[in-house]
Amino acid sequence: MTKIVVFGASGQAGRQIAAAAEARGHDVTKIGRTPGVQAAAEVAVGHDVAVSAVVDLSRDPAEFYAEAARALVASGVGRIIVIGIYPLLETSPGTRVVDAPDFPAEHRPFCLGHAAGVDVLANSTANWLVMSPVGNFGGTSTGKYRLTPVNPADELTYEDFALAVMDEIERPTHHRTQVGVASA
Ligand SMILES: NC(=O)c1ccc[n+]([C@@H]2O[C@H](COP(=O)([O-])OP(=O)(O)OC[C@H]3O[C@@H](n4cnc5c(N)ncnc54)[C@H](OP(=O)(O)O)[C@@H]3O)[C@@H](O)[C@H]2O)c1
Repeated sequence: MTKIVVFGASGQAGRQIAAAAEARGHDVTKIGRTPGVQAAAEVAVGHDVAVSAVVDLSRDPAEFYAEAARALVASGVGRIIVIGIYPLLETSPGTRVVDAPDFPAEHRPFCLGHAAGVDVLANSTANWLVMSPVGNFGGTSTGKYRLTPVNPADELTYEDFALAVMDEIERPTHHRTQVGVASA
């Protein structure tokens, strides 16, 4: 049994991840907006894994995600899994979706906010992984998923996404990188 703390456990992704973890018999601590991921340095202590699936559109995205990542790192938890966004996945080495000239300008600040959080993780010594749907959340659950390069036309349900997160928790395979997930 793994001790897992899920931040954003009242959200769409976090709720499914927490439910999947409980269904597999793990010890799950569920945290919503209060005290929030900002309290990770205290709340995550003693857990094996911290999962962060948070978003707060009222906050500056870069400040919010950097603050969240700093708190997760400060907790010293053994493994950090952050739910990310597909525009930060690379279409070729060194080129992310968000870097394309035709990427919608209005979506860039949110994406770069997520990137600020990834930068904090990358500059730490923590054992982290960012898992992102390769396209949008939606479609019909298949009970299966695949790890795959970005394809904005792809779909993934929150339920199938949770399976990918759980498998990575139970059999850690990817470290200090970002992976894309789609329904199989
Ligand atoms: N296609 C994509 O790449 C894609 C698509 C969708 C989402 N995502 C990402 O997936 C992650 C989860 O998204 P979601 O759809 O599950 O979001 P969601 O349903 O809006 O849930 C957000 C969670 O964050 C919590 N929260 C809100 N404000 C907070 C704060 N100030 N401090 C700490 N926690 C706070 C919420 O708590 P309350 O319930 O109390 O408000 C909730 O538990 C996000 O990082 C999002 O950007 C990616």
